[in-house]
Amino acid sequence: MPSIKPPGLPPSSITPEHVWLARRQWMRQMGVGALALGAGSIMPALAASPTDARTPLVATPNPSYQLMRAPTAEQDVISYNNFYEFGTGKSDPADYAGAMVLRPWTVSVEGEVGKPQVFDIDDLLKLAPLEERVYRMRCVEAWSMVIPWTGYSLSALLKKVDPTSRARYVSFVTAEQPENMRGLSSRILDWPYVEALRIDEAMHPLTMLVFGVYGKALPGQNGAPMRVAIPWKYGFKSGKSIVRIVLSEKMPETSWNKVAPSEYGFYGNVNPTVPHPRWSQATERRIGDGFFAPRVDTLMFNGYADEVSSLYQGMDLKRWY
Ligand code: MTE
Repeated sequence: MPSIKPPGLPPSSITPEHVWLARRQWMRQMGVGALALGAGSIMPALAASPTDARTPLVATPNPSYQLMRAPTAEQDVISYNNFYEFGTGKSDPADYAGAMVLRPWTVSVEGEVGKPQVFDIDDLLKLAPLEERVYRMRCVEAWSMVIPWTGYSLSALLKKVDPTSRARYVSFVTAEQPENMRGLSSRILDWPYVEALRIDEAMHPLTMLVFGVYGKALPGQNGAPMRVAIPWKYGFKSGKSIVRIVLSEKMPETSWNKVAPSEYGFYGNVNPTVPHPRWSQATERRIGDGFFAPRVDTLMFNGYADEVSSLYQGMDLKRWY
């Protein structure tokens, strides 16, 4: 997630950006993608099911979620990632996430619900019509991408399980596969990775359950087989490779808030006026524009203020960051 340097994480464990960019340029010159380098380890997992193999996912483009800006290059979207279960370097997820076993895969929806249920991932894929939505995504580390996701609103799933009147929060719990996730042996976070939303945020139509990117099934590094995408919040709120969704009355503990509460609040709303304690959030670097391209201004709620600012009316966003 965050380009954090949480307590105990040696600076050397985070690949500096210029090193990563030089490496990527070298790989391009050599005609090798980061994904291809990890192909040996990816293949066995892919063989398990056609939906793991980055096969096409048929989806209708949703005209309400199109942008004037072209999407970020697919190769950047699938090779520059945060997924600490596979390491802290930006290329670790692409290099190692192919080891994740993606089938069978179930998602338990439980807690404050009238109808708790364990869903098979292939049934979740068919639960609602798949849409393609192009979202701006903004990482707390101040870089951004424009990503065409395939999925549907999370509310379609939550309605099926009948939230009780006590359900105020929704948590997303990531899979733990110690054999296949090399990052789990480090103590950077208290695994499993957990992120959460208030229930009105979770029910908002923009909050998306995602199964694919660029019209194909998600690759492991982007959160296969299912993740969430919440475009008005910093990237750390969008949990990947989800196995449990828990509705609760009490505000749950979340991974980054637990490890560094002064740096990562529960809300994680993109807000250019509230700096991270160690860097500004006023501007961002668009991945793909080139390392020396000028930074651009970050927009309140990442450009989704018209849709979501009413959720936070009356709240002091400097306090509830
Ligand atoms: N989910 C899990 N399980 N583990 C992680 O380390 N990193 C988060 C988020 N979800 C993370 C995670 C962070 S910091 C970001 S910026 C986004 O994933 C990156 O998503 P992307 O790789 O699809 O761009």
